[in-house]
Amino acid sequence: MCGIISALSFDDGVSESLLSALERLEYRGYDSAGIAYIDGNSRLHRIRTVGRIKTLREAVERQSVKANVGIGHTRWATHGKVTELNAHPHSADGVAIVHNGIIENYQELRKRLVAAGYSFESETDSEVIAKLIAFNMKSGASFESAFKQAISKFVGTFAIAAIYEAEPDVLIGAKRGSPMAVGLSKDGRSCFIASDAVALSSLADEIAYLEEEDIVVARKGDTLRYEICNASGETVVREVVPNKVSLDDVTKNGYETFMLKEIFEEPRVARNTYDKFDYDVDLSKFPGVSIIACGTSYYAGLLAKYWLEDIAGIHVDVEIASEFRYRNPVLFKNSLYVFISQSGETIDTLCAMRLVKAAGIKTLALVNVDASSIAREADYVIKTVAGVEVGVASTKAFVAQTLSMLLLAKRKADFDIDVVESAMNSVLNKSHEFAKTAEKLKSGRSLFYVGRGTSYPISLEGALKIKELSYVSAEGYPSGEIKHGPIAIVDDCVHTVAIAPFDKHFEKTVSNTQEILARNGKVILLTTDAARGSLHGFDANENVDCIFLPDCDALYQPFPLMTAIHLLAYHTAKAKGYDVDKPRNLAKSVTVE
Ligand code: G6P
Repeated sequence: MCGIISALSFDDGVSESLLSALERLEYRGYDSAGIAYIDGNSRLHRIRTVGRIKTLREAVERQSVKANVGIGHTRWATHGKVTELNAHPHSADGVAIVHNGIIENYQELRKRLVAAGYSFESETDSEVIAKLIAFNMKSGASFESAFKQAISKFVGTFAIAAIYEAEPDVLIGAKRGSPMAVGLSKDGRSCFIASDAVALSSLADEIAYLEEEDIVVARKGDTLRYEICNASGETVVREVVPNKVSLDDVTKNGYETFMLKEIFEEPRVARNTYDKFDYDVDLSKFPGVSIIACGTSYYAGLLAKYWLEDIAGIHVDVEIASEFRYRNPVLFKNSLYVFISQSGETIDTLCAMRLVKAAGIKTLALVNVDASSIAREADYVIKTVAGVEVGVASTKAFVAQTLSMLLLAKRKADFDIDVVESAMNSVLNKSHEFAKTAEKLKSGRSLFYVGRGTSYPISLEGALKIKELSYVSAEGYPSGEIKHGPIAIVDDCVHTVAIAPFDKHFEKTVSNTQEILARNGKVILLTTDAARGSLHGFDANENVDCIFLPDCDALYQPFPLMTAIHLLAYHTAKAKGYDVDKPRNLAKSVTVE
């Protein structure tokens, strides 16, 4: 949530590095953006725009910026509307900062700074950071110590980068609760501090991740160096690791959108997940499993519950992290606690995990980002190998998460990945059919996704995906539950996507959709080829559309269905003319509560 980048260099082209990194960071927020830089005459400048990085790039390019030091930010609004004044960087007396996180005590600090004569231009919590650093310097403190004094006063979370026009050879960053990484360019002529490895790809091949409360100071003298100190002020060395994110990972490779590219990668992700899975947990040692997550990752947990209970015979609870952490949960010391997160940074999942750890219970995390906070703090980690997921709506990561959970329940040797891969590929070959159905769906006022058994969590994921991308109200329900209330809103403007592969639940789900048809609702039946002989004229109804997917064993069936609901959401949003990679109001990495 909010992406930050900063650069200090012997070369005067840092604005291009900032812009290219911001383009890669856009998945963290994209309502407004800005950069600040110091020119050759030690003067600070800011350029801020509302909208995407593209708009910022045009504004920066109009000014032919030359600078050796600068900071940049792409925003997901928390405090204050989407306006240029609320966009970062914020500044005061020659200091400029960018911030990701929330300064919880900003009201109190702001009051004190106003009393000291500062006026504020924005409604953000972040502006107090710049003002407080500037205020501290008034009493003679250097930029670095003024920065450190300011940090010590903040309650809340932050990743901050700061520059000061009177010290253009210094760049400072600090981290608490929000991720931050630092790296040097290959030639050693530039240093970058940013939110993540994705921002640093193509800028730094090797990076170090900051730990909680670390402060990093980069200085340019005869050479360029950075030094990290910890919460006690001691100089520390953080491990330098290769930046595994390649430019290929963050380009569309010929696809129109990242989301489409990522959906088309799903069969390969399933194969990789299977090939690389070597985690051996003896589930029989645990009386129960608790899975905690948010969003799509939560639905991956719900699907896993069906498998873990059915195959491994173990009781499973699945919880939404933001509820779990605030409801004083009763913890079972001997249970296995599993935290699922694509980004590894979702603050509610991270804090829920800390709560469990604090009770002395071991934690297992499923994460897709190697060096993320959740990956670093969990006792055990299963790395999902979906690769970098750029589209804000999660797709291929869901495949990796669910397959990993299934492989925890079922021995790899008893699993046929060829069947899964080929069924998913067959669904991709039907992409045009989903595009045709999307033309009908796009006019619906609201949508239901219904299913039974493992098709129920798939319904929830289908409804979330279409809601995120098409801005239409969509709810996932167990198909048996529709008659207990939701059916009241069914009329000829309501579409129901019934997820009914030809399995033991098929007849029941079809019968539930009859209740919808009887009330003039429209039905899209997502089923499998074997159902053709059992439709008994159902498909002849003018309000019914059928899409037939390949049949496979019930165990594997959820995987082609995942690809199907992702394609349906994708094509519906495209048919409505929306930006599928960056849906409005969302961000991919949610580091605020
Ligand atoms: C955001 C994203 C969702 C994602 C959820 C959980 O809301 O828009 O796509 O499922 O966060 O994210 P995580 O990184 O923890 O899986």
